[in-house]
Amino acid sequence: MATLLEADNITFSYDKKGPKVMDGMSMKIEEGKKTAIMGCNGAGKSTLFSLLNALRKPDSGKVLFRDKPLTYRHKDIIKMRSEVSILFQNPNDMMFKPYVEQDVAFGPENMKLPKEEIEERVQESLFAVGMEEYRKTPIMKLSYGQRKRVTLAGVLAMRPSVIIMDEPTAGLDPQMAYEVMEIAEQMHSSGVTVIMASHDTDLTYSWADELRVLYGGKCMYAGEPEPFYSDFESVQKAGLLLPTVFMMNRTLADLGKGSLEPYPRAQSQMALKTAQHKDVDLGVLHVIKAERDTDIKAIIDDYQLGGMPTGVYGMSARMALRATSTDVDFLYNGPENCTMKCLNGQDSVLICDPLMFDKAVTSAMFINEHGFGKINIDVV
Ligand SMILES: Nc1ncnc2c1ncn2[C@@H]1O[C@H](COP(=O)(O)OP(=O)(O)OP(=O)(O)O)[C@@H](O)[C@H]1O
Ligand SMILES: [Mg+2]
Repeated sequence: MATLLEADNITFSYDKKGPKVMDGMSMKIEEGKKTAIMGCNGAGKSTLFSLLNALRKPDSGKVLFRDKPLTYRHKDIIKMRSEVSILFQNPNDMMFKPYVEQDVAFGPENMKLPKEEIEERVQESLFAVGMEEYRKTPIMKLSYGQRKRVTLAGVLAMRPSVIIMDEPTAGLDPQMAYEVMEIAEQMHSSGVTVIMASHDTDLTYSWADELRVLYGGKCMYAGEPEPFYSDFESVQKAGLLLPTVFMMNRTLADLGKGSLEPYPRAQSQMALKTAQHKDVDLGVLHVIKAERDTDIKAIIDDYQLGGMPTGVYGMSARMALRATSTDVDFLYNGPENCTMKCLNGQDSVLICDPLMFDKAVTSAMFINEHGFGKINIDVV
């Protein structure tokens, strides 16, 4: 995998006499990987992002984008930022215009895109974050979480190839937090490299391929999440907590109830690994691959899938759903909720963006591949 962004031995302080916020920071972010950046309050996550995006310049050391050191020339910075977009921690730091639709259109307008394209991007981005009805609303009248959604729409409308999300779920209601994770997965499925800082260890553990942990101005850990969480002293030192699923899995292994590996990343995986339901047929997971114009209602009728617990996952599936009068039980966290139903022996239906299929069946595949039970996956 190619290195996309790199911090090479960076030092940085906000004022000359102040403490070093970055003190020999080195890390690489790989293209196409989902990378979680963790560390306690004040560890320097937001500062690192502003350095990676050339909003600030290191006192010493280098930032490299696609193996080339940043030049900090205006032209180069504009070009780099058209590819690398940051969703700031505080939405009030990135609202540029008085009305929602103007704010979302701001980035694409700066890119000098044709009017129709801007309109299409604004509509689609507001739909993705569930804020279509607020198009004409003044930003001043939005709640904190709503503002956060609008700023996310603004970033999506830029269609970047790298997205850096600084605490994207903080301050959002729990369902919206899952929707933001779904958006992050959607972007990843379409080839975007996603980097996310978050204190929510449960959400990032179920999501990340790679972990970077900041401490004392340095990157104290770079690698897959499991080795880091296995080293409890380092977790404590970094001011973090263990993800619930990781902790339960380890506790059960310590009690002699099963092995540490394979590591479950989701509650459904944990539940079936523990239950040791060897070779039991569980419910069927019917996955309807839905493009934007798929007639979902017709498929549900034709295949007699009505009346089962139903979830939705991914952009095209949500768009197809909007055009029908189909009721959905799980508007958020669809794959996990549907898989949980299968564990109870119930058949379930997941209306899914074809791009997101592999992610949608991750838990079911984990259960099947390790012989913890058998969820038949029926692709419609
Ligand atoms: N604009 C600023 N001016 C001066 N000092 C700052 C500024 N922003 C951050 N700092 C300091 O830099 C250090 C790192 O802050 P930063 O915001 O990068 O941490 P963080 O890891 O993002 O924390 P959090 O989890 O709270 O978001 C802190 O000690 C903070 O006080
Ligand atoms: Mg921060």
